[in-house]
Amino acid sequence: MRIVVIGTGYVGLVTGACLAELGHDITCYDTDAGKIARLQRGEMPIFEPGLEELVKSEVAAGRLSFASGALPLDRRVRAVFVAVGTPPSAIDHSADLSAVHAVAEAIGRAAVRPLAVIVKSTVPVGTGEAVERILRDVRPGIAFDVVSNPEFLREGSALADFRAPDRIVVGTSAKPARRLLADIYRPLTERGAPLVFTERASAEMIKYAANAFLAAKIAFINEIADLCEAADADVEEVSLGMGLDRRIGAAFLRPGPGYGGSCFPKDTEALLAAAQGHGVQLRLVESTVAANEGRKRAMGRRVIRALGEAHGRTIAVLGVTFKAGTDDMRQAPSLPILAALRAAGARLRIFDPEGMAHARSLLPEADYTRSAYECLDGADAALLLTDWPEFAALDLARVKASMRGDVFVDLRNMLSPERLRAAGLRAFGIGRREKLAMPAPLPVPLPPVPAVRPSEAMPALSPADLPPLELVAAAKAAKTGLNGHAT
Ligand SMILES: NC(=O)c1ccc[n+]([C@@H]2O[C@H](COP(=O)([O-])OP(=O)(O)OC[C@H]3O[C@@H](n4cnc5c(N)ncnc54)[C@H](O)[C@@H]3O)[C@@H](O)[C@H]2O)c1
Repeated sequence: MRIVVIGTGYVGLVTGACLAELGHDITCYDTDAGKIARLQRGEMPIFEPGLEELVKSEVAAGRLSFASGALPLDRRVRAVFVAVGTPPSAIDHSADLSAVHAVAEAIGRAAVRPLAVIVKSTVPVGTGEAVERILRDVRPGIAFDVVSNPEFLREGSALADFRAPDRIVVGTSAKPARRLLADIYRPLTERGAPLVFTERASAEMIKYAANAFLAAKIAFINEIADLCEAADADVEEVSLGMGLDRRIGAAFLRPGPGYGGSCFPKDTEALLAAAQGHGVQLRLVESTVAANEGRKRAMGRRVIRALGEAHGRTIAVLGVTFKAGTDDMRQAPSLPILAALRAAGARLRIFDPEGMAHARSLLPEADYTRSAYECLDGADAALLLTDWPEFAALDLARVKASMRGDVFVDLRNMLSPERLRAAGLRAFGIGRREKLAMPAPLPVPLPPVPAVRPSEAMPALSPADLPPLELVAAAKAAKTGLNGHAT
């Protein structure tokens, strides 16, 4: 089937290349003429594992081409996928739909026959209706089926996710559009991919609800990691034990520096803005967003605390992208964490396997190296921020020998504390049973703690009526006067 995909970012380019692989005749279109020119020269504007090879082979097979300028909607085109960005609005945190609306107008102007307009961009409920209205206003003589087909791919494994999706959600009640989408995705559904038909509004909501739920899972395990540190439990064991429960699942249950990326932060905020518009309060989503913001700030303080003194210290930063397998740095937790370290007077030296170009423009004051070993050479401390597999394979004896200091902060729990310690490094992970051995006093001020005597703070607690966990926490609070957290 002849299809045009509008927007050649992470979603549009993957969608276009993968639809071509399914046998469709695809034109990927973008208003960014420079990006299209690069693609036409065979250059990739983004890093996504396997994408470059797939694009090249589909172009060579004649199933994939690129266009800018006039929208190439000839009579043979039957469907248009919309995969443009929906960033946070500059006014509030709602989704900025200006690109989606502009595309609807452009389709209306260029259409020469009835079309299915398939919205892949993440958009709030009601957007499909608005797109339909725009198309009707701009081109009253042509019938359009506006379908919501949210995208669930993950950067870093986008090709695999497209080829074997957990589900394909198609939101429309129009039967011809349902048949058309079933045709487009038939090669995947024949291999077992579930195709879920819903009303358009439900499909729009599914995407936001799914992302908010996954974000909440991450925020939840991060809070449990804090409690593990206070209570002498190990979050890695807790996460394993929880994740094996099929009702819970292991995915998105890894503690870390807070979620980031181009989706979770903006989608949770946009969901809250939409809920507010409907007069509905989403307390769990609100808490998730607040917990994640606090998490990123706490991680900056944690690194400073591990160092004892940040001023004038050189920190080797391993990884800055929001996760491994991508060059994407949108809303990466590394950004606020590294800003806090800079503000505390630390010198930053950075290595990331794929994120160097974006990092250079976002963090111009840092030094950049060509390898992890070069980054660590002479550093006072190491800070692992992204779980690139190559960091797991570091020769830690070599690392220790080349570093000036011995502090290794691993905000992904990627390296075992035992291995780090065996190499002579001081290991600072997240939520591990082994105490963080944080030096005191804290070099950064914490909010004032009301002066309470232990007896006043816990008048009702007695060993007889406390479960063991609370006993431990209560004992710690009494001893330290703080909450016992290591952040
Ligand atoms: N990145 C992800 O992992 C992911 C996953 C699922 C869903 N999504 C959603 O998919 C959508 C696209 O995300 P992305 O990460 O691919 O964005 P992106 O910023 O990487 O790409 C968007 C592309 O759209 C182009 N564009 C903007 N306005 C245009 C217009 N009027 N006409 C034609 N092209 C235009 C831009 O030039 C850019 O190339 C967003 O709504 C996002 O929330 C993203």
